[in-house]
Amino acid sequence: MAREAAEEARLFLREIGAVDRTKRIVEREGAVLIPLLHTDVELPDLPGEIVEVPSIPLNKEQETPFSMIARSLDIPAPAKERLPRRWELIGDVLVLKLDSSLREYDGDVAEAYACVLGAKTVLEDVGGIGGEFREPKLRLILGNDTTTVHKENGVLFKLDVMKVMFSSGNIHERVRMARICRPGETVVDMFAGIGYFSIPIAVHSEPGKVYACEINPTAYGYLEENIRLNRVIGVEPLLGDCLDVAPEGVADRVVMGHLWGKEYLGKAARVVGEKGFIHYHEACHKDELPRGPLETVRRGVEKENRRMMRATLRKIKSYSPNIDHIVVDAEIE
Ligand SMILES: C[S@@+](CC[C@H](N)C(=O)[O-])C[C@H]1O[C@@H](n2cnc3c(N)ncnc32)[C@H](O)[C@@H]1O
Repeated sequence: MAREAAEEARLFLREIGAVDRTKRIVEREGAVLIPLLHTDVELPDLPGEIVEVPSIPLNKEQETPFSMIARSLDIPAPAKERLPRRWELIGDVLVLKLDSSLREYDGDVAEAYACVLGAKTVLEDVGGIGGEFREPKLRLILGNDTTTVHKENGVLFKLDVMKVMFSSGNIHERVRMARICRPGETVVDMFAGIGYFSIPIAVHSEPGKVYACEINPTAYGYLEENIRLNRVIGVEPLLGDCLDVAPEGVADRVVMGHLWGKEYLGKAARVVGEKGFIHYHEACHKDELPRGPLETVRRGVEKENRRMMRATLRKIKSYSPNIDHIVVDAEIE
């Protein structure tokens, strides 16, 4: 992993619980080596690779969080084998995927994870994210306060984890968007949520103006709060369907962070000013990559008599075994 990408990678890997904190992060021949707990990890669009090299213990006595959790639990050995080795820690709210055989011990299991990882509340992921508002399906196991402030890349995201989604796997894309936006740009975020892209862009890129459209009143409420919390100026939250509320002919950059947003491409093409970029996300079957989404964007903008000059496609993460979450960066004239 090259040094420039290492911090982003470390943040990403820490959020998905993959970093072996008992081992040292070391630099060798210009590459940064981050120790992992397991090799079943994908590094979305990072110039790094998984390599097997001897790692250096920080301190022989130090245990991994997972082994501390497993050791502290008094449950039968077969149940211990099924304890989740990964988790999502959003602020101080922990989300776990539990094997059904662990249900009868869920209180104790939640307590052990909360104690070791410093979480005030533990939720079980029972059905992923669904519906027009992309709402999570979670079950409360421990604690009662599901509202938290998650800090990432110098940005504060306040949210109720029970009510609005937060995808740790998209961290690199949030960081990338904040890096590629240029000072003074006008950005239209068509599916802003709580400000996943709008706020990092406003915090790090000195945009001229960011229009952040959100249809779900709950997510919109947090978007407003996050604008205040991060003290950013120039972000205008717009409540409603982006088809109605997004201003047209203004944008240097349009963010389409919706995995099923094909039918909004015509609107995105109208939102772009004289020229600009559309960042189009899609959940796409691996067999259709890379041509499918590139053609979708080209056709979508051509219907509005705009031209796609150049486009690149990158993978953000695996969505399911055969489906990838990808983003197309398309330059439009
Ligand atoms: C999937 S979330 C955004 C996820 C985000 N891109 C990320 O990386 O974590 C999409 C958001 O778009 C909102 N949304 C869906 N349809 C919309 C529409 N027509 N206009 C504005 N917002 C919409 C949903 O309520 C949701 O908050």
